[in-house]
Amino acid sequence: MSAIPIKNKDGIAKMREACAIAATVLEQLKPLVRPGITTQDLEEAGRDWIARLGARSACYGYQHGSRRYPAHTCISVNDEVVHGIPSFKRILREGDIVSLDIVVWNDGYVGDNAFTVPVGPVASAVEKLLRVSRDALDLGIKQAQVGNRIGDISHAIQHYCEANGFSVVRDMVGHGVGVSMHEPPEIPNFGRKGAGDKIKPGMTLAIEPMVNLGHHKTKTLSDGWTVVAADGLPSAHFEHTVLTTDRGPEILTIPRSVGAPFSS
Ligand code: MF3
Ligand code: CO
Repeated sequence: MSAIPIKNKDGIAKMREACAIAATVLEQLKPLVRPGITTQDLEEAGRDWIARLGARSACYGYQHGSRRYPAHTCISVNDEVVHGIPSFKRILREGDIVSLDIVVWNDGYVGDNAFTVPVGPVASAVEKLLRVSRDALDLGIKQAQVGNRIGDISHAIQHYCEANGFSVVRDMVGHGVGVSMHEPPEIPNFGRKGAGDKIKPGMTLAIEPMVNLGHHKTKTLSDGWTVVAADGLPSAHFEHTVLTTDRGPEILTIPRSVGAPFSS
């Protein structure tokens, strides 16, 4: 197991900037979600906002095996868990849910965040899925305390989601994030209290519950990217990049108002 990178003052300042940009892009996309638009519309808006804020997509061209991810954003609808590829054929309908995952490079550092938005009114079970998944993220973040262990985050998320009748995805995990999109440690959304690495000040962690309404099992579609719930039931995804400090966890993926200047 390789060591978890600790960011110095300069790295933290750069993480703040990358994360603020990722969060601002995500915030700009949320209100665009409505029946009739396509996931490609969201992709184009995301691509343009990333460029406008002077950053680069960390997803575009991201290599996995021999494949390169073909879009600037990941847009996953309903039973799609993560890594949905935007398409002009995918029209959002009332009752859908859509997970927006925005990862940017800025000045050598990566900011990563995600949020699942309902398209108009959704079934009450799906509403509950979104609420529980969102709250599970908060509970996970609360455990990102110096002196705790990574398993404390994992356990808090798993326990809350399962107590509410949902399941946590096991095939993908949260992760450290910094000079690359995926750094140590892995942050599973399931696990035991007191297990795993000890949390120290200066870690930057992408905590990201992926929560299924039904069974946790997933499969990858033939496009090589889109991960779906194997049982075809809806799945939600909420993610923040968090800095660990002696004063507690600090969420870095906080949007800025787009009039404000974007420099540190
Ligand atoms: N937030 C996703 C992750 O951590 C972003 C993946 S980008 C993609 O895996 F290129 F793989 F789609
Ligand atoms: Co991530």
